Amino acid sequence: MARVVTLNVGEKSVEMPVTEGTEGELGFDITKLRAETGYVTYDPALGNTGACKSAITFIDGDKGYLRHRGIPIEQLAEKSDFIEVAYLLIFGKLPTADERKKFSQRLGANAALDPAFKKVFESFPHDAAPMAALSAMINTASCFDSTVADGDDEQFAEAAARLISKTRTIGAYIYRMTNKLPYVEPDPKLPYVANFLRMMFSTPGTQYEVHKEVTDALDLIFLLHADHEQNCSTSTVRMVGSSKANLYASCAAGVCALWGPLHGGANVEVLEMLDVIHKGGMTAEQYLEQVKEKKVLLYGFGHRVYKNFDPRAKILKESSDKVLAKIGVKDPLLDIARKLEALALKDSYFVDRKLYPNVDFYSGIIMKAIGIPVNMFTVLFAIGRMPGWIAQWKEQRDENVRIARPRQIYTGPTKSDYLPVEKRK
Ligand code: SDX
Repeated sequence: MARVVTLNVGEKSVEMPVTEGTEGELGFDITKLRAETGYVTYDPALGNTGACKSAITFIDGDKGYLRHRGIPIEQLAEKSDFIEVAYLLIFGKLPTADERKKFSQRLGANAALDPAFKKVFESFPHDAAPMAALSAMINTASCFDSTVADGDDEQFAEAAARLISKTRTIGAYIYRMTNKLPYVEPDPKLPYVANFLRMMFSTPGTQYEVHKEVTDALDLIFLLHADHEQNCSTSTVRMVGSSKANLYASCAAGVCALWGPLHGGANVEVLEMLDVIHKGGMTAEQYLEQVKEKKVLLYGFGHRVYKNFDPRAKILKESSDKVLAKIGVKDPLLDIARKLEALALKDSYFVDRKLYPNVDFYSGIIMKAIGIPVNMFTVLFAIGRMPGWIAQWKEQRDENVRIARPRQIYTGPTKSDYLPVEKRK
């Protein structure tokens, strides 16, 4: 017997089918609500609205679970790597050795940027916002790529690898451009992360030494950012993709949504917040007082879904000590972060609002330790999130969903007539 919920609307009683997910999540299907009752739902930030069904990532915000295709993030962080997780997200399973080899070869073959493409970089001012450049250059990439994943699965797989690989190269080029450094061509023989670091930090003509502790740390950062179900930027990718816009256009829009300081831009705000305290602007206690007076946010804390620890924050907190020790970096900002966390976790203001550290609270400390400048943090978030955006875009494309077009509750003026200018006040 199919489960239904009954909604009594005025004289009407409307039954709506209940849809149940594999983890027991329940949603009632309101696709016929307006036709049958004249009502729409009202849920401005969509916190109570299931916009889609998805089999990619599951989050249990109360228990602090994060799983990709059913595999807990803790196991993936310990046993997998970014490229394998990217494959898992996009193609729905862990790759065999041959599948992994072919995917890696595709990434290597697609790392370079067209020479004409690089000329576009020359048009940016050196102080251009890295996320503006990233979004622009992802769309520019589609000008050099006639397919952009509008074809069959094979063409999609090629375009997905191309976008993941080129986003990494574009990220490195943005760093070089903003620092007035010559570009370093990708080395197709190097693995994904090592290639990125070499393009970022090597000096042309010299041998760049790749340190395993650094590549491991950055691989973990990318892996932990790879997907996070229907967050703001992923929902943007889906929204844009629902008009049948191509993969590059949809992901370029995702970059813009991620840029916001309440979303992916928070990792930059966290470092600036820690720096204010470190530079003696105020103590951690004083900063938290400002937060409680609602003058500032405690960046890197809070989450729409996690009302417990963000499991990614736990992993990053545990790894930050190890990474900094391995790299031989002692960062006072890490001590400040730990102090802020300890104070907040025993302060009823934060405990009552279920505010815990999220992925952005510790990620910046690690990125800073491996030499990534703060203004590039959100670009690296986007590089890590690209496989998730691609996977979500494909899942929606394969379901052939209708174009997204929400309704509204209109609150403007009721019907009025045009007023000739001489009669206006
Ligand atoms: C990411 O969605 C995802 O999955 C995103 C992400 C992903 O991987 O894609 O996980 C990545 O974006 C993580 C979040 C990064 N953002 C930040 O760290 C910015 C700081 N956090 C807040 O802006 C906030 O917590 C949000 C935006 C993350 C969530 O906001 P919500 O769900 O709208 O929470 P809310 O505004 O309803 O907060 C409830 C209460 C409010 O106080 P009261 O009105 O009840 O008195 O908690 C307060 C808020 O003012 N609050 C905070 C706070 N977060 C919430 N107060 C101070 N500092 C904060 N960080």
